[in-house]
Amino acid sequence: MEVIICKTKDEASRLAADMVAACVKKNPKCVLGLATGSTPIGMYKCLAEDVKARKISFKGVRSWNLDEYWGLAGTHDQSYRYFMDKNLFELIDIDRKNTHVLNGLAKDWKREVKAYEAAIKRAGGIDLQVLGIGSDGHIAFNEPGSSLASRTRLVSLTPQTIKDNARFFKKAADVPKYALSMGVGTIMEARTIVLLAFGANKADAVKGAVEGGISQFCTASALQMHKDAWFFCDEAAAAKLKLKKYYAWRGLEELARR
Ligand code: PGA
Repeated sequence: MEVIICKTKDEASRLAADMVAACVKKNPKCVLGLATGSTPIGMYKCLAEDVKARKISFKGVRSWNLDEYWGLAGTHDQSYRYFMDKNLFELIDIDRKNTHVLNGLAKDWKREVKAYEAAIKRAGGIDLQVLGIGSDGHIAFNEPGSSLASRTRLVSLTPQTIKDNARFFKKAADVPKYALSMGVGTIMEARTIVLLAFGANKADAVKGAVEGGISQFCTASALQMHKDAWFFCDEAAAAKLKLKKYYAWRGLEELARR
């Protein structure tokens, strides 16, 4: 696991976007795992700029998203399908039929998650997975207590996550209590991981993920066992790391060496 600490989230978003862009340049038909939430929006804007400047093209890229609220249609303005359309897919030249988001209205969720995992496998697996991190250390919707070997499945959200996400809904009672989510085991199979974390409210989660023990209590800590995982943080999110001064220069050196 490498930790890149930047002065601002814009700087970190640019560096993370460069890593995604390098993956797309290397293999124009690569498979990306994508994330929603407020954190990756800046990185998605950078990628849209790169497409506009004709530095990269997503024409051949295929994508699978981490999760979707259970019970929301893809047309709902808080669904993750809608988020992806507005914050990335409509801004780049990806073929929408190559983009995949779990169907929050699937009648048979077991069948839906099985088919989703099978499709990722058929595509050759995920080359690069983008992640945010919850204030409780979750990745995707793998809340504390999720098995580190978990696969895509129906999950129950914690009161903390419901509270964190209430800002996007009219009232807390409107936040769905369940989601379909890739598992930690699913995420760990991605060849490269790009995790973004910004702001002081992520400092405890980053500390737990990077310097805590590997535990299902902080599911992002499983990434310590990943061979190519990169955390892009701003200073506020990295503030509680014991070795932050060391990571600050080592991370950039590792990035240059890559
Ligand atoms: P956020 O969510 O980007 O909106 O902070 C991150 C997450 O919960 O994974």
